[in-house]
Amino acid sequence: MQKLLHANKMALLPAMFLSLNLLFFLSQISHATDTISKSQPLLNGSTLVSKDGTFELGFFTPGSSTNNYLGIWFKNIPVRTVVWVANRDNPSKHKSNMLSLNKEGNLVLLSQNRSVVWSTNATTMVLNPVVQLLDNGNLVIRDQKDNSNNEDSFVWQSFDHPCDTLLQGMKLGWNLKTGLNRYLRAWKSWDDPSSGDFTSGVKLGVNPELAIWKGSVEYYRSGPWNGIFSSGVFGFSPNPLFDYKHVQNEDEVYVRYTLKNSSVISIIVLNQTLYLRQRITWIPHTRTWSVYQSLPQDSCDVYNVCGAYGSCVINASPVCACLEGFKPKSPQDWNQMDWTQGCVHSEPLSCGVKNRDGFRKISGMKMPDTSHSWINQNMTLEDCRAKCLENCSCTAYANLDTSGGGSGCSIWFGDLFDLRVSESGQDLYVRMATSDTDAKHNKHSKKLVSLVSIPVSLVLLLLLAFSYIFMTRKNCKENGIWTKEKDDGGQENLELPFFDLATISNATNNFSIDNKLGEGGFGPVYKGTMLDGQEIAVKRLSRSSGQG
Ligand SMILES: *[C@@H]1O[C@H](CO)[C@@H](O)[C@H](O)[C@H]1NC(C)=O
Ligand SMILES: *[C@@H]1O[C@H](CO)[C@@H](O)[C@H](O)[C@H]1NC(C)=O
Ligand SMILES: *[C@@H]1O[C@H](CO)[C@@H](O)[C@H](O)[C@H]1NC(C)=O
Ligand SMILES: *[C@@H]1O[C@H](CO)[C@@H](O)[C@H](O)[C@H]1NC(C)=O
Ligand SMILES: *[C@@H]1O[C@H](CO)[C@@H](O)[C@H](O)[C@H]1NC(C)=O
Ligand SMILES: *[C@@H]1O[C@H](CO)[C@@H](O)[C@H](O)[C@H]1NC(C)=O
Ligand SMILES: *[C@@H]1O[C@H](CO)[C@@H](O)[C@H](O)[C@H]1NC(C)=O
Repeated sequence: MQKLLHANKMALLPAMFLSLNLLFFLSQISHATDTISKSQPLLNGSTLVSKDGTFELGFFTPGSSTNNYLGIWFKNIPVRTVVWVANRDNPSKHKSNMLSLNKEGNLVLLSQNRSVVWSTNATTMVLNPVVQLLDNGNLVIRDQKDNSNNEDSFVWQSFDHPCDTLLQGMKLGWNLKTGLNRYLRAWKSWDDPSSGDFTSGVKLGVNPELAIWKGSVEYYRSGPWNGIFSSGVFGFSPNPLFDYKHVQNEDEVYVRYTLKNSSVISIIVLNQTLYLRQRITWIPHTRTWSVYQSLPQDSCDVYNVCGAYGSCVINASPVCACLEGFKPKSPQDWNQMDWTQGCVHSEPLSCGVKNRDGFRKISGMKMPDTSHSWINQNMTLEDCRAKCLENCSCTAYANLDTSGGGSGCSIWFGDLFDLRVSESGQDLYVRMATSDTDAKHNKHSKKLVSLVSIPVSLVLLLLLAFSYIFMTRKNCKENGIWTKEKDDGGQENLELPFFDLATISNATNNFSIDNKLGEGGFGPVYKGTMLDGQEIAVKRLSRSSGQG
């Protein structure tokens, strides 16, 4: 009996010890809070954790640095990923810091000797201010009683002062009422959060664009928002990861994104080491960030590589070419691949003289820099053309919005900058002397058509005879496409060979946009390479062409 009692006691002791431990553990958990109040400052060892446990705010020391920073990072990602830094340009040299609310209701970061390292600049005051780290990573100051989580109820929010990272829901752009410009600025290097010289934000204007700058020099622009997203960025077309929204009204001009799947973590970061703005996505099973998209996308994306009226084609060699109807301003520089001078009209414009200027339609273009432009949502393309024609400094026009078949009017003044051929490009109508335009070209071909169409039966007969002779000779397939071929001597071979569609399709990379040389009245012309290396040009009759 005694033995039994003793044994029971022995069993009880560790159980008590365990539960005590558990109590202590629980009390530590309940300490994890998402708010700071006047009576509850945050000391150096402790952190704030958002209610759902996604984000954590605290003090950190990056890499080999000895500086101390206040920042926000993902709590559950094992690779420390800091998304916001409060005192990036005022590091604390001490390990012991305190974050508290002062009398005015501002959040202040105090160092060991109680000197202010950093503070918020809230201009309005509330009765009972509290600081809260929200589930979306936003650190806000609000009145204790106002739980609405409404942006207007925040006295101050970290989302208004971004660092190098754009989180879901953050606005990138302008509050036109207060003049606040929210833009991203890169860290100097991976272990130095101080302000770098690589920035990205919204370029304000009649037709805003997303842009990236190296110092004060524009390095990239997205192209204007055209209803879908922008003529310059492919990869923004419907995707499973995120939705982009742009808002433009009297009060605000901004973009922001939302993630479609709440279990996927994805952010946008500016990286000054790479000079890239990257969308990265967390891959849990490899425990790494994976790059989803980088801007600039390629060398053609770098701002204005080909100069005025120069167009960049990424797969061409060299990448720069003057638009049709234009010639290099300085042929010598151009031939040495210095494209900065750009191109000029081959035939000067004769503005003011009626019917002397016209337009050439160029398809698949990233719209030119909108710095000197004008827009109207309600004009048709016809009105737009007329509007452009009546002003001598107007050099191009296009639809403002390409969704739903196109609407609105966008016109450009002065030289056209930063043009490229883009998968998500649209039609641009460039002003030319009439002799260089589509209209002239079309008149030509119409004449040709009417000349030819009269003796139709004769031609048909001839063609039949011709192909009969040919087929018996070369044993080619039906449905051939006519191509122009040169023999080795460079002489035009007058025998007309037939190629089947598969061969032509192969040679032109399935009529790839990259192979497109231009477009005439009957349809687009493609460059191709046959299996034997022979270069060819193929005209594809357009289904929508009334002439073809
Ligand atoms: C803050 O950190 C320093 C150094 O790690 C330590 O000596 C000090 O006690 C800490 N203060 C608080 C309040 O935790
Ligand atoms: C507190 O420390 C900082 C740097 O460590 C120093 O610049 C500042 O003068 C000190 N302030 C006071 C009041 O001692
Ligand atoms: C607050 O305002 C002061 C002076 O206007 C400025 O120097 C400081 O950078 C501002 N701080 C923040 C966090 O914006
Ligand atoms: C930039 O990218 C490089 C290469 O991926 C990486 O090592 C570095 O940490 C990044 N820099 C920043 C500031 O994130
Ligand atoms: C969301 O992402 C998770 C993890 O990648 C995946 O398992 C899930 O199927 C996704 N849900 C939807 C609706 O796509
Ligand atoms: C376009 O039309 C809408 C209504 O049809 C009108 O409210 C708006 O003011 C017009 N915009 C311009 C720029 O004319
Ligand atoms: C043409 O457009 C420019 C730029 O908007 C403007 O300054 C100029 O007054 C316009 N000229 C005419 C004749 O409308």
